[in-house]
Amino acid sequence: MADIRRFGLFAAFCAERFPRALRVYDVAGGMGRLNEELTKLGRTTTTFDVRVKRLPVRYAERLFTLGEPCDADLVVGLHSDGATRLCIDYAAKHGIGFAVVPCCSENGMSYNPWWKHLLAHARQLGFAEVGEHELPMAGRARVVWGRFND
Ligand SMILES: C[S@@+](CC[C@H](N)C(=O)[O-])C[C@H]1O[C@@H](n2cnc3c(N)ncnc32)[C@H](O)[C@@H]1O
Repeated sequence: MADIRRFGLFAAFCAERFPRALRVYDVAGGMGRLNEELTKLGRTTTTFDVRVKRLPVRYAERLFTLGEPCDADLVVGLHSDGATRLCIDYAAKHGIGFAVVPCCSENGMSYNPWWKHLLAHARQLGFAEVGEHELPMAGRARVVWGRFND
């Protein structure tokens, strides 16, 4: 069972690391709990996922793709399964920031090789800064993030 604190902790991290990113795409956001936390912090957040049962948040009921028009300063993915590397590629394509908390890999890698792979992948995409961070919670808690110069 994933740690229920992940929504608040990750939202706080995103707000602190990306203070000027006021429009956020929450990819694979499930029922919208991360959206709720980011909204409390003053971010206009759109969640992309296909959950019918969900919270009353701004929600795009569809799968996120690289072709999604960009109206965001930051794209985030919390335990976003098959959409995690997509968040990084989308951010690189549009010159915006990203933060992901990887969970299951998309290519059969186990957890540690997977987040290291994502870090290396981001590092060769031209971001001004790429980093990692550990959220103070149980389970899959490592953040990989990147940003361009403001
Ligand atoms: C493990 S759940 C995590 C949900 C939520 N972020 C959380 O932490 O509870 C993974 C979610 O990824 C969604 N998902 C996977 N690929 C997606 C994509 N391309 N676009 C939007 N959602 C996607 C699934 O529908 C599922 O809700």
